[in-house]
Amino acid sequence: MPVKFTDVFYTYNPKTPLASEALNGISFTIDDGSFTALVGRTGCGKSTLVQHINALLNPSQGEVEVNGFLNASDKKKRSKKLYQVRGVVGLVFQFPEYQLFEETVEKDVAFAPKNFGMSPEEALEAAHKALASVGIPESYYQRSPFELSGGEKRRVAIAGILAVRPKILVVDEPTAGLDPRGAKAMMDLFKKVHEEGTTVILVTHDMNLVLNYAERVIVMDHGKIAKITDPVSLFQEDIEQYSLETPLLYRFVKDLNAKGFSLPLEKIKDLESLSRELIAKKGGKK
Ligand SMILES: Nc1ncnc2c1ncn2[C@@H]1O[C@H](COP(=O)(O)OP(=O)(O)O)[C@@H](O)[C@H]1O
Ligand SMILES: [Mg+2]
Repeated sequence: MPVKFTDVFYTYNPKTPLASEALNGISFTIDDGSFTALVGRTGCGKSTLVQHINALLNPSQGEVEVNGFLNASDKKKRSKKLYQVRGVVGLVFQFPEYQLFEETVEKDVAFAPKNFGMSPEEALEAAHKALASVGIPESYYQRSPFELSGGEKRRVAIAGILAVRPKILVVDEPTAGLDPRGAKAMMDLFKKVHEEGTTVILVTHDMNLVLNYAERVIVMDHGKIAKITDPVSLFQEDIEQYSLETPLLYRFVKDLNAKGFSLPLEKIKDLESLSRELIAKKGGKK
C-alpha cells in the first residue's frame, strides 16, 4: 500500500491568535519501494507533513492513508489503534540522538521492537542486526548511549528505528551536522535499506543528495506542493525560486554538454557515473 495524502490541511494552535497554517491542501501518492526526496525552503512544511505519515499529527482537514491505516481529520473515520502505524513507518527526526534514553545501547535499540510485540529475545536479535547495519560494533552494546560521539549516537538512534523493520522509512534531514564521511555512510545505509525493498522518504536541503539518491522529488512551497518530478527534470528548471541550489555536478555536466560533449544527464548521479560516461564517449570501456 502506498502513502496517499488527500487534500491535507494542518494548522498549529487552531482557533488561537497564534494559529498558523503549515499545510495547505496537500495531495500526492508515494509508491511502494520508491525513494522520494521531500525538499523546499525552511518553514515550508516538510517536517509537519512527515509527522502525518506516522500519525504524530492528525490532519486538520483531509486524510492520509498508509498501508491500510487511515489518519483522517474526522476522528470517527480514523483507524482504530492508529498509533500502530508506527510499526510500519519508521520516522527518524532531525537530531534523533536527542531521543536516546535507555541505560545501554542494546536496551535502547531493543525498546521499540519490544514495544511493537517482539519477544525480548527477538527484540534483542533485531537490535543486534540493526546495530550491525549501522556499523556499531558489539563492544558498544553495554555502553551508555550518552557516552558516544554525536555521529555514533545518531547511528544508534537510527538502529532503534530500523530494528522495528519498517516498510516505510522517513528520514528528516538525517545528514545535518555530520561530517562528509559520516553523511555518506548514513546515506549509503538508507540506500541499502531501500535496495532491500523499503520505501524511503528523505527530507533534505541538500540537492546533491537528491541527485545522488532520489528517484522522485516533491517540492514544497508555503505549505503547498509546488512540483512532483524527477531530480534531473527538476534541475533543468529555475529552482532558486524555491531557495534550492542546483548541484555542482549537474551544472558541470551541463557546461560540458554546452561545449559539445552530449553526455546523458539522466545517467549521471555522482562522480563515478560521470567518469563512466566520459570514458564511454572517448571510446573506452565503461
Ligand atoms: N510546534 C509548532 N508550533 C507552531 N508552529 C509550528 C510548529 N512547528 C512548526 N511550525 C510552523 O509551521 C510551519 C512549517 O514548519 P515545518 O514543518 O517545521 O517546516 P520545515 O520542516 O519545512 O522547515 C512554519 O511556519 C513553522 O514555523
Ligand atoms: Mg523541518
